[in-house]
Amino acid sequence: MPDFSSSVVYQIYPRSFADTTATGTGDLPGVIGKLDYLADLGVDYVWLTPVFPSPGIDNGYDVADYCAIDPQFGTLDDLDRLIAAGRERGIGVILDMVFNHTSTSHPWFRRALAGDPTYLDYYHFVEGSPTKPPTNWQSKFGGPAWEYVPKLKRWYLHLFDRTQADLNWDNPAVRREVAEVVRWWKRRGVAGFRFDVVNLISKPEHWISDDSGDGRRFYTDGPHVHDYIAELVDRAGIGEDLTVGEMSSTSLEECVRYSNPQSHELAMTFNFHHLKVDYADGDKWAVCAPDIPRLRELLSTWQQGMAAGGGCQALFWNNHDQPRALTRFDTTGGAYRDQIARMLAVVTFTMRGVPFIYQGDELGLPDPCYGSLSDYRDVESLNYARILRERGMSDDDILAVIQARSRDNGRVPVPWDDTATCGFSEATPWLAIPPSFRQLNAAAARRDPTSLWHLYRDLIRWRKRHRVLTEGDVRFLPVRDADVIAYERTHGTHRVVVVTSWCARQATGIDAAEVDDLSEITAWATAPLAAVTETVDLAPYQVRVFATASLHP
Ligand code: GLC
Repeated sequence: MPDFSSSVVYQIYPRSFADTTATGTGDLPGVIGKLDYLADLGVDYVWLTPVFPSPGIDNGYDVADYCAIDPQFGTLDDLDRLIAAGRERGIGVILDMVFNHTSTSHPWFRRALAGDPTYLDYYHFVEGSPTKPPTNWQSKFGGPAWEYVPKLKRWYLHLFDRTQADLNWDNPAVRREVAEVVRWWKRRGVAGFRFDVVNLISKPEHWISDDSGDGRRFYTDGPHVHDYIAELVDRAGIGEDLTVGEMSSTSLEECVRYSNPQSHELAMTFNFHHLKVDYADGDKWAVCAPDIPRLRELLSTWQQGMAAGGGCQALFWNNHDQPRALTRFDTTGGAYRDQIARMLAVVTFTMRGVPFIYQGDELGLPDPCYGSLSDYRDVESLNYARILRERGMSDDDILAVIQARSRDNGRVPVPWDDTATCGFSEATPWLAIPPSFRQLNAAAARRDPTSLWHLYRDLIRWRKRHRVLTEGDVRFLPVRDADVIAYERTHGTHRVVVVTSWCARQATGIDAAEVDDLSEITAWATAPLAAVTETVDLAPYQVRVFATASLHP
């Protein structure tokens, strides 16, 4: 399996990227139009979240046809043009394959509903009484994970929305079908694949209620998941391509196994532990200040553990399911937004793994913080707003939780220029662009050589030039302050030390001895650099980078 550690992936949420048809929704020609922008930034791959035909209940993660393009995004010809235009610029296209479930509008599910036994067996249909679901499992979007179909006198499993029915991977016909889908896209020139919640595909042999949780312990990293992934990769012939699996509530050991080349499974994994350090008691809908010691422990365990086990992780702070990290790690309401954005960027490009940029990271987009619940669109947010109301929470408190947690935070259309709709669309965008985003527009950022955008470009180039950043060992360093995180990368005689502050006060970082053979890279400083005497000290949310002289940019 090739080593992807010097590759950089840019995630595109096409609905919110660029609209060429004045519908208020982005499309594939919009992506083609921005390829020069992406080539200039220096990325190697673009990952498109699903563009397949879909009723859109979960914005495309409810797929109704795996081998076509939803007309709202364009045509298959547009995708072919995107692949070709990307190739001319050295950019590969990664598609997002959602195989844990299909939309209930998918022909397979419709045939199942019509009682066809072949297709009933494509899903998890379980006979039973209308009042008693097979288990007490909860859907990840809230409410029970089973839906009853009176006509069939059966329940079907849906770990997500009730319109997203889980596929039965124990059925060999299902496994053949999905492998064929991947082969078909690969033949069209697709360079890689992201597999949505792929560690949930193997369900347990028996349906057992969970007396201590929501059921996830029974289906997460399920009994045959490794065999099914290895088989898919082999059958689809994608063992040399960039493959990344989204892993829900997984463990380090499992991720090592999914991504160690000897397993012949995936090139890398996404895990989300570092993005849960602001969940009170593990509850996404209970907001608390980020726990930085916990973040340090997680980053260090995962970085060092993946290295020791020969695994590979995607490096990211944002995606279409997350509030923007520069808002969630900010305890000051925006005073240090630029500093935090720069610090997160440096961390992304200096850790071990494969950096993923999510659209707008390079512009420093924050959460939109809409003033009303009616501005939010996401199915999960709307479900939870209802659930929180049923639990007796006040409207103001619900709005505050949704503002902090909604997946729409990452889905606001990209501001390309400073016109009224920010150059995203000539129509009203499907999700509002806050007026403040105008100042963060891409055209201005590219013009300003000191902008965050240029830092991203510099970091991409820098990482590609130095094996210490791609292949080097990683070790987390002892820190003098609970809100500091520091690590070193080493490769032969080369060494880089990164020291970061995650708080809005002055902090004592690490012992000066850790950097006494290195010199500081001053070009990226976000605040005056305190002299290094006994310790490396940090201004609010500052990042300081020290490196062997020959590594300086
Ligand atoms: C993944 C996707 C998310 C989607 C879910 C169900 O977590 O990233 O957007 O809702 O899977 O497909």
